[in-house]
Amino acid sequence: MSGAQIIDGKQVAQQVRGRVAEEVAALKRDHGVTPGLTVVLVGENPASQVYVRNKSRQTEAAGMVSTMHKLPAETSEADLLALVADLNEDPSVHGILVQLPLPEQIDETRVIEAISPAKDVDGFHPENVGRVATGAGGIAPCTPLGCVILAKTVQPDLTGMEAVIVGRSNIVGKPLAQLLLKENCTVTIAHSRTRDLPEVTRRADLLLAAVGRAEMVRGDWVKPGATVIDVGINRLEPQPGEEKGRLVGDVAFEEAREVASAITPVPGGVGPMTIACLLANTVNAARAING
Ligand code: GUN
Repeated sequence: MSGAQIIDGKQVAQQVRGRVAEEVAALKRDHGVTPGLTVVLVGENPASQVYVRNKSRQTEAAGMVSTMHKLPAETSEADLLALVADLNEDPSVHGILVQLPLPEQIDETRVIEAISPAKDVDGFHPENVGRVATGAGGIAPCTPLGCVILAKTVQPDLTGMEAVIVGRSNIVGKPLAQLLLKENCTVTIAHSRTRDLPEVTRRADLLLAAVGRAEMVRGDWVKPGATVIDVGINRLEPQPGEEKGRLVGDVAFEEAREVASAITPVPGGVGPMTIACLLANTVNAARAING
């Protein structure tokens, strides 16, 4: 079969942002509250600067207040923790996002644990991780949320599906497993040390790749008719005549699209969903705090 349905993450993200903007307007009208998202960026990581700029622009476009703290690369952990403590107390701030990675003198775990769980719109705080795992509310991380929304655009009810996640990170693989369990999937978390990985991925009705290895998942790793969600964003080495290398996912797209029934592209798949879900987490946090 040629020509899987290409899942348009840009379009779905736009719909999510539209809903967020309506909720922001309702919160302003009914409660006089304008949700505020504060992003903290330490150092000059160029990829982080691009992400952060996009986040600010989209936050404002949804009618929320975006603030940014740019700190020098040599910022001490104590100074960053003091800023987080101030933001935790600031009633105009409903979401706090400390951009990762942090410089090596700063312990990321300590910073994540210092953020008030109610304002932890990344969903990285152990209290939110635990709440999401037990089903006791909590804020779920943005990228896994985006993956589930995209999967449900082709299969509104995921009940009973064999879901295989390749990748076991705290930010994507593990929380994605929790969200898919909640959707009644049978979930396998595979990873780089899984024995006979292609054999495992071929069982998947829903295959989600989040390993950070360019085009690792080949076409013959995909079960015919599967839905494939590709979380990876990898830049290849530039080829002759290219200024920059191409962006590719963790899935060999051209091969997989011949086998799958639906697949997300890279770019334009999961990527745009992450910020859209961050905005959704922020308006939800504002409503939970003030609504
Ligand atoms: N760096 C890359 N992605 C993310 C993210 O989703 N949240 C944070 N805090 N940092 C990141």
